[in-house]
Amino acid sequence: MAENVQSIEGVQAEALSALDNIESSEALTTWRSQYLGNKGVIRGMLSKIGSLAKEERGAYGQGVNALKNKLTESHDEKQTALNNAAVEKDIAEGAIDVTLPGRARRVGRLHPSTHTLRNFYDIWSDMGFQVYRSRDVELDDYNFTKLNFPPDHPARDMQDTFYTTEKDVILRTHTSPGQIRAMEELGGNGTKPIRVILPGMCYRFEQITPRSEAQFHQVEGLAIGRNIRMSDLKGTIAEFAKRMFKPDVQVRYRASYFPFTEPSMEVDAECFLCDGEGCRVCKYSGWLEIAGSGMVHPNVLRNGGYDPSEWSGFAFGMGPERITMLKHGIEDIRYFWSNDLRFLSQF
Ligand code: DAH
Repeated sequence: MAENVQSIEGVQAEALSALDNIESSEALTTWRSQYLGNKGVIRGMLSKIGSLAKEERGAYGQGVNALKNKLTESHDEKQTALNNAAVEKDIAEGAIDVTLPGRARRVGRLHPSTHTLRNFYDIWSDMGFQVYRSRDVELDDYNFTKLNFPPDHPARDMQDTFYTTEKDVILRTHTSPGQIRAMEELGGNGTKPIRVILPGMCYRFEQITPRSEAQFHQVEGLAIGRNIRMSDLKGTIAEFAKRMFKPDVQVRYRASYFPFTEPSMEVDAECFLCDGEGCRVCKYSGWLEIAGSGMVHPNVLRNGGYDPSEWSGFAFGMGPERITMLKHGIEDIRYFWSNDLRFLSQF
């Protein structure tokens, strides 16, 4: 081997014994630039390969590279050892108080409405209802006309509806327009049965008070089939109430009116806080209103492409915020969207 190149074994022995004697990270940095730096020993060795005889170059180059890897590895081990020794020294000197409790990590939580919605999804999917999502921005036609709202119905009033600058484009005031969308998209031109729930945000141009917000969720339900009767609706909602509240909960139905159902009923469940005894939450009536419901109006079936002489269906609508408020004794609906962590972190 030519005189002017350093021997690999010699450099390795010298470098490793120098490394052995190092006791500070400053010395380690100096060592690293001495051997592994841009102007270090390894670079110097590589730059002299050219002066070797042709047949010696390959083996020498490989040897230097292996040496470089070896030194890099030894450097990293030394660094870890120095760091560990520093921590141990700090602990020994009391600079680190290992008895201090750890810092708690802040964990995000689900919004209370999300909890209730997920609870709904579990129950309804168990009962064979698919989740179908419909749009928040709707046409006036779907929100009202196709749902059999007479032209002069008060809900069409500017008071309740958020209009957009686009003609006939509004924010849905309820999830019921999804009934028409579901019939159009899943019904196969009035040939297929449907069993869906339609969860989503609704918007109303309303005075915001502890009892009413300008936005809130609804969960709509729709079942269409060839022989669906009122008893199916009653049984289905009663089963939901059992799973949602408690297995022996009583449910009652009160005649009501909605343009898109006939007959229409409001559904009450026995107050789950006082077991029907009467308390502040149920206003001493023993009952809590949990849903609006009814048999789908023939006009609505027709608007969704079904022949009402062959097909029938039931529908219902529930308010998850209302149910959440009842469940947790929340007295002001404005907490839901005010992003106050003192409220949100309780769930
Ligand atoms: N859309 C009604 C509302 O916003 C709620 C409702 C009542 C939905 C009865 C229904 C129903 O599907 O059958 O007040």
